[in-house]
Amino acid sequence: MRKNIVAGNWKMNNDLAMTESLITELKKQHQTSNAEVMIAPTFTNLWHAFEALKTSKIEVIAQNMHYAESGAYTGEVSAEMLKSVGVKTVILGHSERRAYFNETDSSLAKKVDAALKYNMRIIFCFGEELTDRKANNHERVVENQIRNGLFHLDASAFKNIVLAYEPVWAIGTGETASPEQAQDMHAFIRKTLADTYGNEVANSVSILYGGSVKPSNAKEIFSKPDVDGGLIGGAALNAEDFYAIVNAF
Ligand code: G3P
Repeated sequence: MRKNIVAGNWKMNNDLAMTESLITELKKQHQTSNAEVMIAPTFTNLWHAFEALKTSKIEVIAQNMHYAESGAYTGEVSAEMLKSVGVKTVILGHSERRAYFNETDSSLAKKVDAALKYNMRIIFCFGEELTDRKANNHERVVENQIRNGLFHLDASAFKNIVLAYEPVWAIGTGETASPEQAQDMHAFIRKTLADTYGNEVANSVSILYGGSVKPSNAKEIFSKPDVDGGLIGGAALNAEDFYAIVNAF
């Protein structure tokens, strides 16, 4: 179901005390938009955040998971373990995991299947490098990431899928894709979905933009017809900035 969504990816930030403090500030914020709001703390803070927010409108989500059910995967966390602490949505394929932790299209396809087995919602991330865009390869790169990670699925699975386009060159750089660049890529992504799964599926999937979204640019980016919200990094670590983005619809 296509909805407006703003998700805060906290990345590797905030210990328990800082998590408690930021959640206290988030609870003070007033939401005026119809957006679904999510925050993704680190694994060590998920249970505390879930307990602290379970009666609020903020969903607590995970930044990653492994595809195995259990076993000899030191340092990893399974879908079942995430469900056991109240988490129903997981970010998969973030560019930092692809770049630093050898996430491949095939490992991501396995993670997608594992998350769907536990009826989890997936925020599936993808995006081109600056060299791809400069070579005008950005659409082919993005199409390959989506096809290789998701297009083994039946159409019905897309009710659990949220897409997040994050041009790598815009992440954490302050260099935001222009609203027109975001719209062009989101429209291409939606057409790619429609070509394989039809318009009904393509028009039912939320496509988020991520990459230096700030209170100053969120309204213009979110006003584009194929942009359904944002996956927010740095600005999610400040409650007022985060809700300025949440309320930018
Ligand atoms: O997952 C969202 C993140 O990659 C965007 O980071 O700091 O550019 O908003 P930032």
